[in-house]
Amino acid sequence: MKPSDASSKVKYAIRDVVLEAKKEEANGNEVLYLNVGDPAKFDFSPPKWITEEIKKALDGPYKSYAFSTGDGELRKEIGKVEGCPESQVFVTAGLSEGIDFATRIFMDAGDSILLPNPTYPLYVSKTKVIGGKPRFYECDEAWVPDPEDVRKRIDETTRALVIINPNNPTGAIAPLKVLKELGDIAAEHNLPIFADEVYDHVILDEDAEMHKMKDLVRDVPVFSGNSLSKNFFYPGARVGYVAIHNDYEGKFLDAFTRMCNQRLSVNWEFQRGAIEAYKNGFGFNGPYLDKLRRRRDIICKRINEISGLSVARPRAAMYGFVKVGGYAGSDWDFVYQLLREEGVLVVPGSAFYKNHPEELYFRITLLPDDDTMELAMGKLESFMNRVI
Ligand SMILES: Cc1ncc(COP(=O)(O)O)c(C=O)c1O
Repeated sequence: MKPSDASSKVKYAIRDVVLEAKKEEANGNEVLYLNVGDPAKFDFSPPKWITEEIKKALDGPYKSYAFSTGDGELRKEIGKVEGCPESQVFVTAGLSEGIDFATRIFMDAGDSILLPNPTYPLYVSKTKVIGGKPRFYECDEAWVPDPEDVRKRIDETTRALVIINPNNPTGAIAPLKVLKELGDIAAEHNLPIFADEVYDHVILDEDAEMHKMKDLVRDVPVFSGNSLSKNFFYPGARVGYVAIHNDYEGKFLDAFTRMCNQRLSVNWEFQRGAIEAYKNGFGFNGPYLDKLRRRRDIICKRINEISGLSVARPRAAMYGFVKVGGYAGSDWDFVYQLLREEGVLVVPGSAFYKNHPEELYFRITLLPDDDTMELAMGKLESFMNRVI
């Protein structure tokens, strides 16, 4: 008896590092968790109108399976946000499930998918489970995708182009010109685009412009992926969606419907709460963004003052991707040594497939409160002064 080889391809270091942190805690050592992007673990909570609607729904007629493609009213509300009819909207268990379904309908074993470098790791796991090949395109110093590199990586096995904007782990926002170029390249090569825009309302720089791919591309299908997890600070709801634009032949719409049918439905009561989320919109998030911005500023200032560390200022999302210079060892060595010696937990850059062995990175979350941030920065500074 043994589990499948495919299951061994699933890796999620963001969670794996926690096991080591728990061991430290079991030994009586305190740990500052700067590894996760879960806002509800810190001082962020979803708007009341969502949770109140869920409470009401628990006493309502929502005990059966919902429609597999999602509650009709929710699809309609999401359709208004996405500018498409509800028939193009699919409700999924978080965007994670949307990524799973999309990956499976894009490719078969031996096919490849283009991902940004660094990338959100789930795309790699899903691709490998299918027997497909993740291929990475480069980003510049500010973590903006390089369209020329995207072009170079396309071959006859390429089945889709993934754009994560704003990006996790870097917090970068891609400018309009670059997004248009990526759209043109996808159109030239007849590739569908998966636009992961799960942080599109977590924009920290007030002058930053966020453009959705579906507004820039007409010639090839654009899958817009989103969720309650980040934009509404409610990852535990497990409600997300994929809206498929420009699928003129309807083949992807049909395939995505089949993916939804095989898992029957997403929790209905939570979908009812999501209706309120999209009805009330994103106007609530000003104070949330103020907090994140303040913490981003603390991190950027402090990290860029520490010898051996630098970070490109994240313009959005909940993370900074920190470059380490002068450390003799791998990024995993760095992360575990930092945990053991200072009790600070971060995620190694290679967990996001940053695939230059000569460059070391780690990802830090912007979510913890200001005092924790200051404390963690002090610990990071004394660590760096010792190890480089
Ligand atoms: C870029 C990106 N895409 C997708 C997801 C998955 O989101 P969800 O919680 O909606 O499954 C995350 C979660 O961290 C993410 O950062």
